Amino acid sequence: MKEKIITKKILKWYDINKRSLPWRKKVTSQKKQYYTLVSEFMLQQTQVATVIPFFNRFIKNLPSLIELANVEEKKLIKFWEGLGYYSRAINLKRTAMLIIKDFNGKIPKNYDELKSLPGIGNYTASAIMAIAFNEPFIPLDGNIERVLKRYLYLKKDREIQKDNLILKKSIFGTSLRSNDYAQALMELGALICKPKNPLCNQCPISINCKSYKKKDFNLSKRVKKNKKKYFILKVYKKNQSYLLIKNTKFNFLKNLRIFPMKELHKPKNFNENLNFKMSNMNMNIKIQYLKNNQKFPLSYWIDKKKLDNYTLPSFTKKVFKYLEKI
Ligand code: ADE
Repeated sequence: MKEKIITKKILKWYDINKRSLPWRKKVTSQKKQYYTLVSEFMLQQTQVATVIPFFNRFIKNLPSLIELANVEEKKLIKFWEGLGYYSRAINLKRTAMLIIKDFNGKIPKNYDELKSLPGIGNYTASAIMAIAFNEPFIPLDGNIERVLKRYLYLKKDREIQKDNLILKKSIFGTSLRSNDYAQALMELGALICKPKNPLCNQCPISINCKSYKKKDFNLSKRVKKNKKKYFILKVYKKNQSYLLIKNTKFNFLKNLRIFPMKELHKPKNFNENLNFKMSNMNMNIKIQYLKNNQKFPLSYWIDKKKLDNYTLPSFTKKVFKYLEKI
């Protein structure tokens, strides 16, 4: 199918079938840019339906970039509470602060500058370029990836590598309505080209879909290399309380409260006590109980009986559980 035709068909379908979502409302361009920034951070690891009430609460409390940049971290975490992956909130605020400081308070309309900001990778930079600035970018999220894999029947391991999908997405072409087109492709993946039981009879591009022709909708997954990593986790205990620190050292769980840890590279005879799977690594943890108090900057004594009073990442909660069991 010619690019223009596929673009037209998808947009026509979108105009009739799009969901009304709070960040899709017609607002001033400045608001649109801010709403896109916030919603795209929230949508990085969370589904649309879950995000809606959290987005509304967040925007009600922090209606503009300036307010976000100036909010106290404690309040920020409260406004994000329930969404999980708190590093996103911390990065979002840091991004807002940098936009004020380095970009005159305006979200940069430039892919590389966007990518230089905390929490913004290829996907989010593309999404902001398309949705906030109507530039011809197609953000390759899980939904668009699925449409692409099915439409072209990409199944082999080398076909479904990210690099190849980035090349192949050009079959979607571009539109002057880039803002709508990026969201139309996502919407097509979310509502029609669903992971299980796709609704091909309602799909505007099924005629040319290779999976539809073959009647094979199974998707093959990229084999994720979950890297094994090794950590020594240090436990300091005083009466009922354990020492936590604010994590400024590791790239994961950034700025959140964790037990002090040290990474070991290729250790010998590592007898792990605990295992924790993150999205991109498998953490093997050996616990070390220590008496002497080293001085840590940004440390907190957290009473094990009052854990509910703190916002802690699930990793830290898991360690608490383990320590209380043994
Ligand atoms: N997923 C990520 N961004 C989205 C958007 N703007 N609309 C729907 N789903 C999304």
